[in-house]
Amino acid sequence: MLSIVETRLQIAPSILAADFARLGDEVDTIAAHVDLLHVDVMDGHFVPNVSLGVPVIESLRAVTDLKFDCHLMMLNPDYYFPALQKAGADSVTVHIEVYPNPTEAAESCRTESLGFGLAINPPTPFAAIEPFIELCDMIVVMSVNPGFGGQSFIDASMEKVAAARNFVESHGLLTDIEIDGGIGPANIRRARDAGANVFVAGSSVFRTEDPVAAVEELRAQIRETE
Ligand code: DX5
Ligand code: ZN
Repeated sequence: MLSIVETRLQIAPSILAADFARLGDEVDTIAAHVDLLHVDVMDGHFVPNVSLGVPVIESLRAVTDLKFDCHLMMLNPDYYFPALQKAGADSVTVHIEVYPNPTEAAESCRTESLGFGLAINPPTPFAAIEPFIELCDMIVVMSVNPGFGGQSFIDASMEKVAAARNFVESHGLLTDIEIDGGIGPANIRRARDAGANVFVAGSSVFRTEDPVAAVEELRAQIRETE
């Protein structure tokens, strides 16, 4: 019998690693093979980089039915919830470092009928998010310091994944646990075994010769074996 985690394993390619000049084609190539599209929005303040925003999400919405998992690496994300919803976002993730108490942000998100995720950076202790897990559809454990794709996986993040999985299971919750940063075929299985069930993969999908084969390889790694 499949475990609950097994039935809800999801691969979420991050378009940050895609060729932005061919974004529609890049998404189209993988669309039938993935579960979610991870959309990294950066403001140049919370993280030292800028990426994309509402107009790009709106354009992408016109060319795909994939769910958009929008990771908001910005200082005042709640201001943009209505615009993001209108543009086609399905869920938004904000950072606990931006909202030490995210209760109001979660409420604004619900008002817009958006899924709510809470992300935690590598230096932030698990205790910071623990009181708020029940507000969330998804916990996002950052396994790199946010801002750039293509960084090396920070191994200590596995402990946070395990703590989140333990909390979710012991409270009878169905909260998704996503891991974001440096995920590839060499470590995705360990992330799954630690308790992650949603896997962001940027470079290990879009920066390969064959993104579909790369997704299938990631999926093969996390598939339950006999
Ligand atoms: C980092 C972003 C990640 C990034 C992942 O700030 O939040 O989603 O795109 O890219 P890879 O998989 O290349 O580490
Ligand atoms: Zn991300």
